[in-house]
Amino acid sequence: MLNIAVLVSGGGTNLQALLDAEKSGVLHSGTISLVLSNQPDAFALTRARLAGVTGVTLTKAKGETAAEYGERLVEVLKAHDIRLVVLAGFMLILSPNVIEAYRDRIVNIHPSLIPSFCGEGFYGLKVHEAALAKGVKVTGATVHLVNEVPDGGRILAQKAVEVREDDTPEHLQKRVMEEAEWVLLPQATERAAQRINQGLEI
Ligand code: GRF
Repeated sequence: MLNIAVLVSGGGTNLQALLDAEKSGVLHSGTISLVLSNQPDAFALTRARLAGVTGVTLTKAKGETAAEYGERLVEVLKAHDIRLVVLAGFMLILSPNVIEAYRDRIVNIHPSLIPSFCGEGFYGLKVHEAALAKGVKVTGATVHLVNEVPDGGRILAQKAVEVREDDTPEHLQKRVMEEAEWVLLPQATERAAQRINQGLEI
């Protein structure tokens, strides 16, 4: 079975969607065998424990460079025989050595329709604040491959969500999660796992 790692930093609702998808059979071409957090108190780690999945905390040490952290990260991933990495709210930017070690094997979920409202500085509520400030009528979520450009890798899947007249950033964030992210990420992860198993490009 293809081992999947999910990298998290926070609440882990996208992780939960993946765990649920594995349970229901939507995700069946790979198994979530590792949840790695850079934050020791991330609720996502509790979700992993409750699902019986190995959870590991890998904090970035003071003075440690991104490359040094990346080296330790790759060591952990290799030690768990990970072949597909899913970033689900992981708040550290991956260093080039990680991207190189897992070229075209790392996917990320971003809460907008890339290329809108993405790249450096666009995370969390900021993405939805920017969408509302621009006045877009449709936003959504994107799953993409991770390369050296933040949110710049090849787009794998997208799902649109309508913006409402009275939306606040918080409401919009919640609807994008419910209507797009939690559906899209499990589907895209299954497809990626399937394609790896078939020896195809993701
Ligand atoms: C999600 O909005 C995701 O798109 C972004 O970070 C957030 C993580 O939320 N990359 P959660 O931890 O999965 O609840």
